[in-house]
Amino acid sequence: MTDARTAWKGLVAKALAEEMAERVPGAAAPSSDEIVIETPPDQAMGDLGFPMFAMAKRLRAAPPAIAQSLAARIAAMPEAAAFGRAAAQGPYLNVHLARAPEIEAILDKARAATWGQTAGMAGRKVMVEFSSPNTNKPLHLGHLRNNVLGESVARILGAAGAEVRKINHINDRGIHICKSMLAYMKRGEGRTPEDEGLKSDHFVGKYYVLFNELKAENKDIETEAQELLLKWEAGDPSTRDLWKRMNEWAVGGIGKTYARTGISFDLYDFESDTYELGRRYVLEGLEKGIFFKAEDGSIQVNLEDVGLDTKVLLRKDGTSIYITQDIGTAIDRHESWPYDKLIYVVASEQQYHFKVLFEVLRRLGFDWARDLHHLSYGLVNLPSGRMKTREGTVVDADDLIDELAKLAAAEIEAKGREESVGDLVSVSEKIALGALHYYLLQTAPTKDMLYDPEASLSFAGDTGPYIQYMGARASSIIRKAAKGEGRHLEGSLRPSKLESEADWALVRLVAAFPEAIEAAASKLDPSIIATYLHDLAQGFSTWYRDNPVLSNPDADLAASRLELVRAVRSTLEAGARLACIPFLEAM
Ligand code: ARG
Repeated sequence: MTDARTAWKGLVAKALAEEMAERVPGAAAPSSDEIVIETPPDQAMGDLGFPMFAMAKRLRAAPPAIAQSLAARIAAMPEAAAFGRAAAQGPYLNVHLARAPEIEAILDKARAATWGQTAGMAGRKVMVEFSSPNTNKPLHLGHLRNNVLGESVARILGAAGAEVRKINHINDRGIHICKSMLAYMKRGEGRTPEDEGLKSDHFVGKYYVLFNELKAENKDIETEAQELLLKWEAGDPSTRDLWKRMNEWAVGGIGKTYARTGISFDLYDFESDTYELGRRYVLEGLEKGIFFKAEDGSIQVNLEDVGLDTKVLLRKDGTSIYITQDIGTAIDRHESWPYDKLIYVVASEQQYHFKVLFEVLRRLGFDWARDLHHLSYGLVNLPSGRMKTREGTVVDADDLIDELAKLAAAEIEAKGREESVGDLVSVSEKIALGALHYYLLQTAPTKDMLYDPEASLSFAGDTGPYIQYMGARASSIIRKAAKGEGRHLEGSLRPSKLESEADWALVRLVAAFPEAIEAAASKLDPSIIATYLHDLAQGFSTWYRDNPVLSNPDADLAASRLELVRAVRSTLEAGARLACIPFLEAM
């Protein structure tokens, strides 16, 4: 509704200026930034609402009186009628848009491949780091939340006009990797994932679990792992060989999970390449007196004045720790691609780490460090309890998706819909992903959540499959129309045919798509898109139940409603893409 919004803002500004001149002669009229537009809670109240509270003081009058006077002024403006009419309602000036031109404009916009995209973030470079697994085990449910958040935020920012780069920072070195390696050295007997018929990352994970089991019989094994790390750092050839082989298995297997879930990256960073990067900056900071050398010889920073602790940045033996490499990586990334914003999608457990990291970078004098952002997300639990890694009872990502796909296939079979869905295996997989991704995105990122697989798969209710189902319903209407079923062929699109309350309500829902993208982009919150999709799907479902489309005896109305169904379909498809929900033609 952007064009009409702009027009109405102009009309209201003009009326306010007149009002101002009369009530407080000589004072400056309110600027257009001061004119706020809201959406009235109920369609009957209008399409746009201008609250007058903020104007009361300047105009020295009560908000309802201002609203009434503005409504009268606008009614007297000859140019206003084409855009609709304004009415005072308490402290609000509410606007009822002229429907036909608005309908025509929306249906037209929704036909474009770029429908919904805005320019709100045009010219901004945003880097999104997400997933960033360790290479000692496969992905788990927490990663699935991370992955879909990162991918979805990246797509949303792209739709809002930003130039986006997706980065995966693979933690491929350190003690955790040495543990899987050591267990493999002890028990692996040179076997490969193929020998055991295991997906390669699962194969590596099996040895990580085994390490913890071996600990029970061998209390020196932790020390052995430390020794292995030293050998790795010294570049010992056979250690490096095994490390390389196991990392390839881990990263290769994890990559298959990304491909399966539609997640991708523009760039991979490997910690083994970057872990030395930060040291130089820490030493520079020491020289400049930003950091200090503690009694034990380690380099530290005192952040007590900003409510954080004193934090080690480099060990006493000069080796890097987790934060050291993050300092170097952020700087390196900014040098190679000067981003306006870098978003780290990382679990809320690391909030302290990122607070310290951002503060340290600011103290080192990097202005861009003000635009670093930790997109922190909460835990995902299953109804059966908290997921655990060490004990090996973690909810594995691949297993979970397999399970969901199986349940989806069973549901299709139970409904006897194998014929109509086409490829059962591929459709079940898509429903599984729709269910999973919607469920994970629907909760605001910062909140902990419970993932209920059964509930997520329901075809009715607040779920991904429900949205997919409505997309399939819209597609099916369009297919029927293309086959010549219905009366639309005898008529043609007439926007004024869609002015009834029911049709207009659906048009309004479609029209809100760009605003949902803007809001989700500025808040970095894909749950806004999830909610929007649900509202649209539900609005479409109600509308379709009560309002015949193809079978409508009025041929022009049939043709016009068919156009509206097309707009709904393309909105559902584009919106679902932003939420990583596969779109289905039939289901
Ligand atoms: N690999 C780490 C983990 O699994 C997360 C890395 C987050 N990214 C970062 N730049 N520190 O906990």
